[in-house]
Amino acid sequence: MIDTFVLARVLHVIGVIIWIGGVAMVTLVILPAVRKFEQPERRVEVFEAIEGRFARIARVATVVVGVSGFYLIDRMGGWSLFQLASHWWLHGMVAVWLAFTLVLFVLEPLFLHRWFHEHGKSEPDRTFRLVQIMHWVLLTVSMIVVFGAVAGAHGWFLI
Ligand code: HEM
Repeated sequence: MIDTFVLARVLHVIGVIIWIGGVAMVTLVILPAVRKFEQPERRVEVFEAIEGRFARIARVATVVVGVSGFYLIDRMGGWSLFQLASHWWLHGMVAVWLAFTLVLFVLEPLFLHRWFHEHGKSEPDRTFRLVQIMHWVLLTVSMIVVFGAVAGAHGWFLI
């Protein structure tokens, strides 16, 4: 018989790997490589092609992680855990999820894509530096949350 609680946990972790792993790849490998291109048009073209494909994958992963995460909380009867300081990482997971959901589903289609397309060509160095900083911030916060979540889910409470 399928244990839906365990299945949700498996899907949750697979979603996190694909999504946050992709963010790490973009931050640590793709952005630094693309920033070295001589022509600003080429930088924008290549980065948009890669990030555009990844954004579609990240949207699916975000939905899988969100649905499985809320299912896990509900099955655990864990809503009251949000009141405990030791479970700060639950707030962290929801905050990271909300931030990415906002970027991927609202800000990107509304204006971020257009902003990058225009400024990436007119002010390439400043724009790519800003994009790199934003990726570093999101990756660092995500890593802190993953650290706290794995430790906490396995009984090691850091506070
Ligand atoms: C709506 C958003 C989310 C909710 C409601 C949620 C909820 C949960 C719950 C209830 C657990 C199980 C905790 C336990 O067994 O004590 C869990 C585990 C976990 N979550 Fe989330 N989560 C969400 C988003 C995220 C995000 C964005 C990340 C990554 C940054 C993440 C990473 C993890 C990790 C690494 C685990 C530990 C898995 C394990 O070691 O068993 N979650 N999450």
